[in-house]
Amino acid sequence: MKKILGAAAVVFSVLFIFGLADNCHAAAKPKKIKIGVSLPTQRDERWVRDAQKMKEVAAKDPTIDLKMQICDNDASKQMSQCENLIAQGIDILILAPHDATSAAAIVDEAKAAGLKVITYDRLVLDSDVDLYISFDNKEVGRLMGKYLTNVAPKGNYIVLAGSPTDNNAKLYREGALEFIKPLADKGDIKIVTDQWITDWQPTIAMNLVQNALTANNNKIDAILAPNDNTAGGVIQALEQVGLAGKVPITGQDAEVTAAQRIVKGTQTMTVYKDTRELASEAIQAAIKMVKGEPVASNATLNNRKKDVPSILLKAQVVDKSNIDKVLIDSGYLKKEDVYK
Ligand code: BGC
Repeated sequence: MKKILGAAAVVFSVLFIFGLADNCHAAAKPKKIKIGVSLPTQRDERWVRDAQKMKEVAAKDPTIDLKMQICDNDASKQMSQCENLIAQGIDILILAPHDATSAAAIVDEAKAAGLKVITYDRLVLDSDVDLYISFDNKEVGRLMGKYLTNVAPKGNYIVLAGSPTDNNAKLYREGALEFIKPLADKGDIKIVTDQWITDWQPTIAMNLVQNALTANNNKIDAILAPNDNTAGGVIQALEQVGLAGKVPITGQDAEVTAAQRIVKGTQTMTVYKDTRELASEAIQAAIKMVKGEPVASNATLNNRKKDVPSILLKAQVVDKSNIDKVLIDSGYLKKEDVYK
């Protein structure tokens, strides 16, 4: 009996010591930084990549606790998802709004809870956001407009813009029109269709092009498609009348399907934005902001409420001539996927 009691005492004290040690260890452990992320969609491949990269960065850093929500292009869902993140005690919110204007209410709630807010890729308007991390979106539009007017300096143009609720769509359009409008004013270019695409839906893009083709006896000389997914819809409409590959079309995002179309010749170009870089910049900035450290910015954008310190990354034109070098050599896309 004595022996058993003795053994029990040893076990107990060992457990006790380990228990204490574990507690001390827990106390020494740095507090995890809870980063809340709210993204608008996973429909466009680029947002899948943003999400993947953020998760990858967080997985490598034991001090990060990443909580991500996707609102599937639904502004009220985004609101309730963000309220939920705030209730879970996040330390900072990274928000890519579905609706640039209504998302100001999300920022208000986050700020009321004492959080900093990074507006990610898309600017939240009329709000007290702390930092904007994106690409130079006006420049993205310019790259498209410049390219298109170079290859098609005259003729009938279809001008498509992204979702009217997305501030980026406005910037892309403005940038592209800097090149298209002077030629339209001169009479060299005739804009036969000029439309926004609700929620960036490819089927809407397809329908708009189908209508424009019918209204103009298939005489279309260039199409400004605001991203790769809508370019896919545009190309479907052209395929239906045997014009795929005969009309220059823009895009952006460097999606794998767009890269395949560029190689095949049905899409003329895309604009490559390295979302891996964007995603990791955002996480790094979030960590610094939670720790109260300064974050270097390289631009300022006004969101109608304030001048928002911004980090704007560079974008790059990709077409048949440089696709291997820019997209494949950089590891963004795999050769076997592009040349499928
Ligand atoms: C992004 C684009 C994307 C589009 C649709 C924009 O705000 O900047 O990269 O294609 O949203 O998701």
